[in-house]
Amino acid sequence: MLHIDQYTAAAEEAVGQLEIPAAPAGLYDPVRYTLQAGGKRIRPVLTLAVADAISPDGRHLAVNQAAAIELFHNFTLLHDDVMDRADMRRGRPTVHRQWNEATAILSGDAMLTLAGTAMMKGCDEAKLRPVMRLFNRTAMEIYEGQQHDMDFESRTDVTVGEYMEMIRLKTSVLLGCACALGAVMTGADETVTDAFYGYGESLGLAFQLRDDYLDTYGDPATFGKQIGGDIACDKKTWLLINALAEDTTGTVAAEISNPSPREEKIRRVREIYDTLGLPQRCLGLIRRYADNATARLATARLQPEALRFFTDLAMLTVDRTR
Ligand code: IPE
Ligand code: IPE
Ligand code: MG
Ligand code: MG
Ligand code: MG
Repeated sequence: MLHIDQYTAAAEEAVGQLEIPAAPAGLYDPVRYTLQAGGKRIRPVLTLAVADAISPDGRHLAVNQAAAIELFHNFTLLHDDVMDRADMRRGRPTVHRQWNEATAILSGDAMLTLAGTAMMKGCDEAKLRPVMRLFNRTAMEIYEGQQHDMDFESRTDVTVGEYMEMIRLKTSVLLGCACALGAVMTGADETVTDAFYGYGESLGLAFQLRDDYLDTYGDPATFGKQIGGDIACDKKTWLLINALAEDTTGTVAAEISNPSPREEKIRRVREIYDTLGLPQRCLGLIRRYADNATARLATARLQPEALRFFTDLAMLTVDRTR
């Protein structure tokens, strides 16, 4: 196994090798703008690291699928930022702000198709079907999760159970898929592939809970996104769902039905979160899902070095600030 930073560099290289046409610039410049903005590359890192954990230097077999999964993820971000009215991503204006919504839609579409092409690259006959079946199933689940996320904005009775299923769909399955791709591309059996999928899926729950936490409590300079966007949009995050249930002052419900100006609303809702001790409880839950991710690897038949790698990666997710 390489060091985590080396996998990030390898993921960066895989993305750098993608061939993005030059013209028409209106279509492809936003694709380059997005890919060069420096995301964390967690999904391709998972693909490459899983491949190495299964087969020595296995990452070379999965490099196209690693790039494809990052391209697909970036496509979802272009559309997600339109849907969430988000102005900043990775410390820069989002594509729909830098250009316009039509650009975010069409450049996003192009990235989705480029992702499909990259996904097939380097797949032999035996792998093509399982890889594309997994990829297409995952994509459909993400769209379903995104629809739930949008539907939940206008509801106030969303349960924690509904929230967990929504984030499993919109976020976790992609981390599960990223892991499983590394396994499939190196010829792992079903037991090992499923164990890695389970790791990615549980890690994804921790990852999205942490994203929601950072949306309220992060440092915008490090996080790269505007803070408070979830509160502004009435996103039914774990924090907001629990605040709605426990807030006896009625402040949170009132800020949804009759909101104060943006910054005031964010401040008032965050104050309730703090009073209820929700940030600490959220961090505890993130830790539990990260631990659960590692536990899922029990059936992956890993060398100790690989098990340590994935345990460390899960802990980095718990503490991440970006
Ligand atoms: C953002 O994903 C969308 C979520 C699922 C929370 P990342 O936090 O992985 O974003 P980048 O790719 O590092 O910018
Ligand atoms: C991300 O959810 C899910 C997908 C993009 C599919 P968020 O909407 O919370 O992600 P950010 O915070 O905008 O990155
Ligand atoms: Mg969203
Ligand atoms: Mg968003
Ligand atoms: Mg978010």
